[in-house]
Amino acid sequence: MLICRICMNDQHLYYAHTVVGLESILEREIVNAGGSIEEKLPGLIQFRWSAEVFGLFDLGVSEDIFYCLLNMDVSLGKDGLKALEAQVETCKSWEKGLEIFGQLSRRRDKRIRFRVIAQRYGGGQQYVRTVLRDRITNVIARRFPSWKAVADGGNLEFWIWQSKEKVICGLRLSDRTMRHRTYKTNSLSASLRPVVARAMVILTKPTDQDVFLDPMCGAGTLLIERGESGRYRELLGGDLSKQALLATKDNIGPRYKPIRIRQWNACNLPLDSGSVTSVACNLPFGKKIKTKEGLPDLYTRVLGEIRRVIQPYSLTVLLTSERNLLMNLLKKNNKLHIEKVLPVELLGQRAYTVVVRAI
Ligand SMILES: C[S@@+](CC[C@H](N)C(=O)[O-])C[C@H]1O[C@@H](n2cnc3c(N)ncnc32)[C@H](O)[C@@H]1O
Repeated sequence: MLICRICMNDQHLYYAHTVVGLESILEREIVNAGGSIEEKLPGLIQFRWSAEVFGLFDLGVSEDIFYCLLNMDVSLGKDGLKALEAQVETCKSWEKGLEIFGQLSRRRDKRIRFRVIAQRYGGGQQYVRTVLRDRITNVIARRFPSWKAVADGGNLEFWIWQSKEKVICGLRLSDRTMRHRTYKTNSLSASLRPVVARAMVILTKPTDQDVFLDPMCGAGTLLIERGESGRYRELLGGDLSKQALLATKDNIGPRYKPIRIRQWNACNLPLDSGSVTSVACNLPFGKKIKTKEGLPDLYTRVLGEIRRVIQPYSLTVLLTSERNLLMNLLKKNNKLHIEKVLPVELLGQRAYTVVVRAI
């Protein structure tokens, strides 16, 4: 017989979504905040949390937080879908999940309008994703007859995550501001996902003495995520593009002082040697960036400048999909030592976060 582990143990769990590749950074963030990890899956971490529930939204590397209703293995056949329906219909975790959802939401809606979102990885099941979504929608509508199922919007979201036999279902507690933040009033096409920027900042090992630099700051995501990650001495950012600088200034507004934003060429930074303690930079790469032929020259010169302005033994965190180019240049440069390479999935493209120590 198939039994849901949540109902069986009467344990109340949460899970967080993140970008695939950032799980270990999110795991550390959860543990440091007092949570304990139950399960680590690609892009999803399940954990127990006994601290204040609002503290869940301070997890900067999480894109969404869910109250976990079900965690079970089902067969890939249609009987697996039936077993899942039976658990959704009877599982006791709904009551606690709805209570927590109620504590968190400020709105008091007269009628609950809910929607089901089904995400599937790997395939192999004998029924398609939309059948899964529709069947579970019907079960929820039966269990809660006063609720109304909707295709868009709604005030309650029930998410199903399925990979092969494994199924995890949850009530979404976060809204879009956790993933997109509230500061991005002006976005650019190559702008970094905030959780990736936060993970890069964490990899710089922030301290309150930091003079933090992003030499190609785009819309300012890395600078803002550094600003949100604790005290520092100064934030420094610049970009070649006037449009990017306008976006950075819009997004930063009056916050994060002291901060200096300037138009500059990252190949020739107007900064003193050894004046910076940490660097994070999303290097130009990928289809949206038109300077492909120029990348080897650009990367060589920017690395030279980073090495000049950063203090010895300090950390630089770089993001690119041009792994070979960056690694070859770093290997030739005997003053920048590669400490760690972390692959991340960005819009179906593999990119690499490279942590480098100046020596
Ligand atoms: C991938 S984007 C950075 C995105 C940024 N991290 C964000 O989240 O918005 C790369 C940026 O590098 C800038 N750039 C390209 N070449 C540059 C150079 N030589 N000096 C300074 N900035 C440059 C581009 O204008 C672009 O804004």
